[in-house]
Amino acid sequence: MHALRTGHIPSTLSDLRPDIVGIDTPVPLLDGSERPYIFLDNAASTPSFNTVLRCIQDFLPWYSGVHRGTGFKSLLSTAAFDGAHEAVLRFVNADPSTNTCVFTKNTTECVNKVANRWGFRPDDVVITSVMEHHSNDLPWRKHAEVIHVGITREGHLDLTALRAALRRHAGRVKLVAVSGASNITGLCFPIHDIARWAHEVGARIFVDAAQLAPHRAIDLLPDGDPGHLDFLSFSAHKMYAPFGTGALVGPTAFFEQGAPDAVGGGVVDVVTLENAVWNHPPHKEEAGSPNVIGGVALAAAIAVLQRVGMDAIAAHEHELLEYAYERLRTLNGVVCYGPVENLAEKVGVVTLNVEGVHHALTAAILSLEGGIGVRNGCFCAHPYVKQLLGVSADDDRRLTAEVLSGNKSNMPGMVRASFGCYSTKDDVDALVDMLGRIVKKEYRGTYVQNRASGAFAAEGFSPRYSRYFAFADLMAPSVHHGASEAS
Ligand SMILES: Cc1ncc(COP(=O)(O)O)c(C=O)c1O
Repeated sequence: MHALRTGHIPSTLSDLRPDIVGIDTPVPLLDGSERPYIFLDNAASTPSFNTVLRCIQDFLPWYSGVHRGTGFKSLLSTAAFDGAHEAVLRFVNADPSTNTCVFTKNTTECVNKVANRWGFRPDDVVITSVMEHHSNDLPWRKHAEVIHVGITREGHLDLTALRAALRRHAGRVKLVAVSGASNITGLCFPIHDIARWAHEVGARIFVDAAQLAPHRAIDLLPDGDPGHLDFLSFSAHKMYAPFGTGALVGPTAFFEQGAPDAVGGGVVDVVTLENAVWNHPPHKEEAGSPNVIGGVALAAAIAVLQRVGMDAIAAHEHELLEYAYERLRTLNGVVCYGPVENLAEKVGVVTLNVEGVHHALTAAILSLEGGIGVRNGCFCAHPYVKQLLGVSADDDRRLTAEVLSGNKSNMPGMVRASFGCYSTKDDVDALVDMLGRIVKKEYRGTYVQNRASGAFAAEGFSPRYSRYFAFADLMAPSVHHGASEAS
């Protein structure tokens, strides 16, 4: 793509940080000062690469609606958009002659699409785990009986229980749907082993790679290989291209059969008043005008990650994790969840609590007194988080009743700091230093909890967002100046 030949394109790890849009953006603190934001919420969404932004800027003069347009810009845009699909297939080493990449909005839409498209029968079983993000759990529940495999004492997926469930439901189990890596503990699943076990009983595997794709090289393996991954999905906004695209890779034959889940323009070849003849995948699965910019942006991000090398990124993030836990061990009063050593099979996610301090309060202090962006709560994986926290069934029922009555102030949760390929030991130091202050109750603000949301606000902190981003100005009624106004 043109932009990748211009400007400075990252090719080593040290090029990545300067390529992050907004890396030095100052944010306001409670004491009235400002400091560059420390972005430790990459598991939710990463910032954009500058290279991605430049690629979009270079592409925009050529942008046009894709497919069926005859103008040069439409032809060029179609080539770029089709090329983006191919880039995703190469990224996960999928055989393009038998596999298709479908662009969606995000991972959630990918999972829903496969669940909607499967054609489950009443007796069919999907095996998943209690570790899953709700996006890789709830869509299956709508269509099939879902079995949730539990965890070991350390928070790993219980592989023995998984194999037992596969044996118990052999014949009925159609799919095993697991994450590539957990958004709570960062633990990676042995996806190729799981694929082998699923295939042995005639089931297929779906891998939610939202937390894996930004951190590790992925290889679907050849179609006939017992360890082959049948379906895989991820989100561009978690891999430095936050422009509204998700990618779903799966067998072309799967998408060829049946009707698409969403219908309308683009998905059809021929329509009569009585009939519709479906187009071929991926068009059949991308109803309406697709997000061309988002696809191009994702391909640009993939190009950057591949130039630097996924193995180099994995090694860097591993080093950061080792460093983070080494430093966290020096703090009495911080509890970490999931394994804190033998970190090879863990991506850059650290979940913790400061003893005696509400998770939402810790997160608020980190933000308002440290300029550190983290996340707190149950992170759309409530069952896993509650199990790691040891919440009893009785407490869970009581807390759920409280939430239903409009009180979230006692919702259990954790604080999550998550690294990206550009994170540094300085980021870890800033986090651990602030946590140290929280442990010693050396924070300065007076924080008040909102009962309905559970969030904490500091007294006296009410930043004017329009000072930093003036979108509201664009919406204000325009004022015309000049001759036409006088006439
Ligand atoms: C493991 C996992 N799966 C799925 C999702 C959902 O991704 P999206 O919000 O992009 O649909 C997330 C988002 O945090 C995630 O961490």
